Amino acid sequence: MIDNDLLMKIDKDSEEPIYRQLIRHIKGQIESGALGPGVRLPASRDLAQLLNISRISVVNAYAELRATGYLSARAGRGTFVNGAIDSGTPLLSTNGMRHNGNGQADKLQVYAPNDRSLRELMRVACKPGVINFSQGAPPLEFFPVHHLREAINFTLDRDGSKALAYEAPEGYYPLRVAVQQYVSALGIRCSAEQVLITGGTQQALDLVMQTVLSEGDILVTESPTYLGVIDLARTRRQQILSVPIDEDGIRLDILENYLLDHPIRMIYVMPNFQNPTGTITPLHRRRQLLALAHHYSVPVLEDGVYQELRFEGEALPPLKALDEYGIVLHASGFTKNLMPGMRIGYVIANNAYYERLVRVKAIADISSPGLNQRAIHLLLERGVLARQLERNNRELRRRRDVALVAAKRHLPKGTTWNIPSGGLYLWIKLPEDGPSAAELYISAVEAGVAYAIGSVFYPDGEGNYHLRMNFGAHKPQDIEEGFRRLGNAWRDLAQDYAGMEKAHLL
Ligand SMILES: Cc1ncc(COP(=O)(O)O)c(C=O)c1O
Repeated sequence: MIDNDLLMKIDKDSEEPIYRQLIRHIKGQIESGALGPGVRLPASRDLAQLLNISRISVVNAYAELRATGYLSARAGRGTFVNGAIDSGTPLLSTNGMRHNGNGQADKLQVYAPNDRSLRELMRVACKPGVINFSQGAPPLEFFPVHHLREAINFTLDRDGSKALAYEAPEGYYPLRVAVQQYVSALGIRCSAEQVLITGGTQQALDLVMQTVLSEGDILVTESPTYLGVIDLARTRRQQILSVPIDEDGIRLDILENYLLDHPIRMIYVMPNFQNPTGTITPLHRRRQLLALAHHYSVPVLEDGVYQELRFEGEALPPLKALDEYGIVLHASGFTKNLMPGMRIGYVIANNAYYERLVRVKAIADISSPGLNQRAIHLLLERGVLARQLERNNRELRRRRDVALVAAKRHLPKGTTWNIPSGGLYLWIKLPEDGPSAAELYISAVEAGVAYAIGSVFYPDGEGNYHLRMNFGAHKPQDIEEGFRRLGNAWRDLAQDYAGMEKAHLL
């Protein structure tokens, strides 16, 4: 049965495409309460017939409404209303939108965008046969399994049950020394007593955020930024103020306005091979950022997890290496460069933060596994990491080149992308006159390719036409094939749009 609330007048002469008129109408009905939570919507074919429009308009409208959290699909049962969403309202009161000196609206929010449903959408990628570029993992074939096996056996023979006991919360001391030596090669001067071993970089970020921020505090992030930090802020009910980046990283003019206007408690940045954009912050901007943060007495959380995955260009010193003021907390790990599954990362922090960090770490999980720490220590000592990096970065560069050629060959005219000199990702922007990344997603997965939908990386829900492709995780033939499928999926969908436009259906 068709609900009367879905009856609407479609204006076929309007410049607004039909599926967008439909989206507007259904959203309005949900927000007004006329279509309440749990209401089942008609099948796309039925609604298309009733409104005398094409089925693809309805399919696309439903897809976008699912992607933005208004609707959800239940397998075999149909499409249902989720409930009203006030997309502009944060979960906690933030004194409303404020305007900075430039007349720009500050985007202060406790994370409530509708990305939950986008992530649900991205789960459909885990289907056999789909070339999945959506994840953040390095390629399985890079992992030094044989060296790890040897290191674990050696450790157990050498240390016996000591390797399986509780470890000190600060970490296995020889590993702390090895990390101190390792980062000194990157230019970071610290002592082993300033190194805290963590459960991957993710825990390093979490511990710093718990140590420095309280509930309601404001964290500045780049926009777009790493999804894991958005999630941490949301979980701990901290507010995010997002600052756009340009080709040189975080925009300092906007950051300074925010620093003037808001009680900002920390700034989170990725100066090397930023996730998702691959941006590198040049030296002068690194120095300016530190000077600004120092001036306003705001600590900086630096995420260096991709810093060694550099296959082109000169190495730049991490912020921590330039930190004359002691305001940088440096988080990184042996996850992207060795293997994520051992979950070994670290924080380098000055004494002002270190003791508190250790307390939070001990509360979180007592300590990171001693066996894993000992094994990673051996891999560092035996030079495995250095050799891995050399080989892996050569291969990443080859895969990057394949991805660039494939993007040029297969993606539609008007698509743009970065040319990364390190990291794992191509950051792509589709032409705005075609489907958005969320609209394209189902068709892409049906065509056998998946990607990360760009808007999930934006704290404020922008980036509708962006997508992130992890070229690093795939062999060259799969990269080529994946881009081919993506281009075809886009063209098929865009052609449907164009055909309908011609027939005045859109
Ligand atoms: C920017 C960034 N930071 C941190 C992490 C977490 O990495 P780890 O596996 O070391 O916890 C990731 C993982 O994708 C990341 O992209």
